[in-house]
Amino acid sequence: MDLPWAEPWRAKTIEPIRRSTRGERESWIADARYNLFNLRSDRVYIDLLTDSGTGAMSAAQWAEMMLGDESYAGASSYHKLKATIEELLGMPYFLPTHQGRAAENVLMSTLIGVGSEGAGKLVPGNSHFDTTKGHIEFRKAHAVDLTVAEAFDTQSLHPFKGDVDLRRLKDFLEANPRERVPLCIITVTCNSSGGQPVSMANLRASSELCRKFGVPLFLDAARFAENAWFIKRREKGYAEKSVREIVREMFSYADGATMSSKKDGIVNIGGFIAFRSRELWEKASTFNIMFEGFNTYGGMAGRDMGALSAGLREACEEDYLEARVGQVAYLGEKLESHGITCQKPFGGHAIFIDALRFLPAVPRAEYVAQTLGIEAYIEGGVRCVEIGTLLADRDPDTRQDRYPALELLRLAIPRRVYSNDHMDYVAATFANVFARRDSIRRGLRVVREAPILRHFTVELERAL
Ligand code: F0G
Repeated sequence: MDLPWAEPWRAKTIEPIRRSTRGERESWIADARYNLFNLRSDRVYIDLLTDSGTGAMSAAQWAEMMLGDESYAGASSYHKLKATIEELLGMPYFLPTHQGRAAENVLMSTLIGVGSEGAGKLVPGNSHFDTTKGHIEFRKAHAVDLTVAEAFDTQSLHPFKGDVDLRRLKDFLEANPRERVPLCIITVTCNSSGGQPVSMANLRASSELCRKFGVPLFLDAARFAENAWFIKRREKGYAEKSVREIVREMFSYADGATMSSKKDGIVNIGGFIAFRSRELWEKASTFNIMFEGFNTYGGMAGRDMGALSAGLREACEEDYLEARVGQVAYLGEKLESHGITCQKPFGGHAIFIDALRFLPAVPRAEYVAQTLGIEAYIEGGVRCVEIGTLLADRDPDTRQDRYPALELLRLAIPRRVYSNDHMDYVAATFANVFARRDSIRRGLRVVREAPILRHFTVELERAL
């Protein structure tokens, strides 16, 4: 018989995690005002809040920590990372930053402008991540979501739900003058639509359109290697290509990329911006020096740049990607076998549960996905994150809650951290909540919230 995939690593160091009682969890979550971000992590058994900065580093990466060169200028660790970015992504210039949103800050300052220089400008893309959108809107510009419509139907089996709708992109570029469109940004894989990949054909066609209209195309490359794996598995003509070849081709269509290294860089902190053009790199370096640090370290320690260099290479290894994406699908299949509806096809870094179908009795105004997240925590000490009405925030003009097309609970899986036994435990936790779903009829009510990005700090109480 065919041998199944298994993780291409074994554990050398372990970190204890503790189970707790249901009574403890009920009181802890009430103390945390029903906000999962307010929980102490030692009160969580399995933490699926995010796959960002939560991966396990390899022995080779830890070795790089000792080799780190902490020189202010010209550190060998910088040159090591530069060579890796050039080799893997084909991008000759880069600036290190402390994480992905810092890369966005520098890039948007360079291309959109600062202060009100962005007023009236438009940045098309495929469901921009919140911080990307934040950096666009902070400059009074607008993010224009041109994702294909299939992305918003959790049961459509479209293989590339991260794709840009090319007809809409063309219409958009024809309708808006070049001066109003400082860049187009495509997120691979698209986190906001469920860790869904973008096809090579779509990247190629988007790039042709952007070039024709003179608009720079950037990738938000946080999960570029997972995207490449899906292209290899799902797109005609790529099965025999190596992930490295696919990655090179993906980036060949872009003028540059922002990177949150906390994902496919498999490090705990870090980011960068990659550029094809020296001119743009020079322009951006002024902002990088002001916001992050000198060009050869930006927001990173030398040791972290060394670990990132190794992590980027490891993320492109195919047996790793098979186990990584395979584990996400393993959890998705388990949940579905219990009758739970998830965004399909399963994404690269997380499973997204359709909360409206899971808890149909809870009123939409009572934060359905957050309610499910709280129930899963109380049931099994599993922590997930709401991608729903809390995250969507209020309309800036009417101050009414904005209801997104989907109300999702994201179960993000850290890289190389949990076993499939942990995934079985997570699936059993949700199966138990599902079994008692008819008794869950009320959700939550906001007690206190911040004017923007409220989901991080919101205080809630049970709606009774
Ligand atoms: N782009 C994407 C697609 C992301 O998913 C994230 C972060 C960022 C940019 C920002 O990067 O956190 O390094 O500043 N996503 C995390 C998550 C926070 O949980 O999905 P950062």
